Amino acid sequence: MKTRRDFIKTSALAGAAFSILPSGSVWSRSDNNKVRLGFIGVGARGQNHLEMALNREDVEVVALCDIQQRMIDMSLGIVANSGKPKPQIILDGPQGYKKLLDNKSIDAVIIATPWEWHARMCMDAMNAKKYVGCEVIVGMTVDECWEIVRTSEKTGMPLMMLENVCYRRDVMAVMNMVRQNIFGEMIHLQGGYQHDLREVKFNDGKHIYGHGAEFGEKGFSEAQWRTQHSVTRNGDLYPTHGIGPIAMMTNINRGNRFMRLTSYSTKARGLHEYIVKEGGENHPNAKINFKLGDVVTTMIQTANDETILLQHDTDLPRPYSLGFRVQGTKGIWMDVNRSIYIEGQSAKPHQWEDAKAWLDKYDHPLWKKYGSDAAGAGHGGMDWFVLNAFIESVKRKTAPPQDVYDAVTWSVITPLSEKSISQNGTSVEFPDFTNGKWKTRINQFALDDSY
Ligand SMILES: NC(=O)c1ccc[n+]([C@@H]2O[C@H](COP(=O)([O-])OP(=O)(O)OC[C@H]3O[C@@H](n4cnc5c(N)ncnc54)[C@H](O)[C@@H]3O)[C@@H](O)[C@H]2O)c1
Repeated sequence: MKTRRDFIKTSALAGAAFSILPSGSVWSRSDNNKVRLGFIGVGARGQNHLEMALNREDVEVVALCDIQQRMIDMSLGIVANSGKPKPQIILDGPQGYKKLLDNKSIDAVIIATPWEWHARMCMDAMNAKKYVGCEVIVGMTVDECWEIVRTSEKTGMPLMMLENVCYRRDVMAVMNMVRQNIFGEMIHLQGGYQHDLREVKFNDGKHIYGHGAEFGEKGFSEAQWRTQHSVTRNGDLYPTHGIGPIAMMTNINRGNRFMRLTSYSTKARGLHEYIVKEGGENHPNAKINFKLGDVVTTMIQTANDETILLQHDTDLPRPYSLGFRVQGTKGIWMDVNRSIYIEGQSAKPHQWEDAKAWLDKYDHPLWKKYGSDAAGAGHGGMDWFVLNAFIESVKRKTAPPQDVYDAVTWSVITPLSEKSISQNGTSVEFPDFTNGKWKTRINQFALDDSY
């Protein structure tokens, strides 16, 4: 298999790959080979990343910033368990993160705050010459997405959205199969975020995954902020877990791009019924009219004439599934039934077969190499891979495998879907954040042998 280094040796391709990095070193990094990391937001997700970072010998956790004592205390417990030195603690209100950015010894930051903070924090961090790893999603509006791209291009600072599902083991095996033409030419793909979050969105602050009907100030973790988005917005609020892997399989921003989308939403019933069930009809939150439809369906058309169907479905009783479907001229894979069909190769015509043997056969080289390191990490191990890709990119001073253009192209689906729904499902055009570079960029995602 051609490795990423082989690609880099070919100078014409290297120019395309690292186009956002100006020549010469753009930011200084400590020489002891350790990445000096700062954390902005150490809630549930930030603590996951923190624990994994503390496990690594090539990372020094320099500073933690949050606005809640409780989250800082939980994080310090994680640090103490690791036996690593206590980092600088910044607990100084919503703007306190700027003090962390002032710390010149920090190479890179991980941002795991509520969505509404991401764009501002990403831009401030890039302006402070920090390499940025930001949780999903990075921008909430089209303008924010543009500002993020322009800031990255202006400062020369790379940004990676920490979209972990691109590293899921079955997804990477299927991507491997796509690249080896097992499915033929790509025709139609599906994915989404189909996860019953009602318990997470409403809780009483005593149990992270407990029952309750409270959110906002009375809630804990995501219930403090995420539920409010469902009160005021209607669109695909969380598209990146579904679209990230699909975008990589269809070479989006690398010879292909999203052209336009349409979105439709159902009525909103799930959250109201949950509040009534948990808190009773007289609970104050039972009066809220939620704007977010229970199921939001988005159809995207690509420049290469594939269609992509995305669904956001977080407020109804249902088992978890990201609902992937990858379909080409020779066959189809679906994750919900863990099945595959490849014409002429599957045992019986017109019949599903268990995908396991195929997924094992095409297990991605990164998983073969690092599967044991990733064992025990969050979400079946994929969280280890996404942090590893970020840290390795910082060490090498390269653009990350999922770059700033991916981050905004995947995130912008939310405001575009909100616009389409508000206009009764009219078609909305995607901006071309790469400004034409998508025509010549090369897909190198996960082709390196180490990240
Ligand atoms: N990739 C994944 O699998 C995955 C899983 C869970 C969450 N996430 C994402 O991670 C992000 C955080 O989610 P979470 O579940 O950790 O939420 P959370 O509410 O548990 O954590 C957010 C933290 O940010 C802190 N914060 C808020 N404003 C701040 C500010 N101005 N400065 C510093 N800290 C601030 C909060 O006090 C809180 O501790 C979100 O973008 C979410 O979508 C991703």
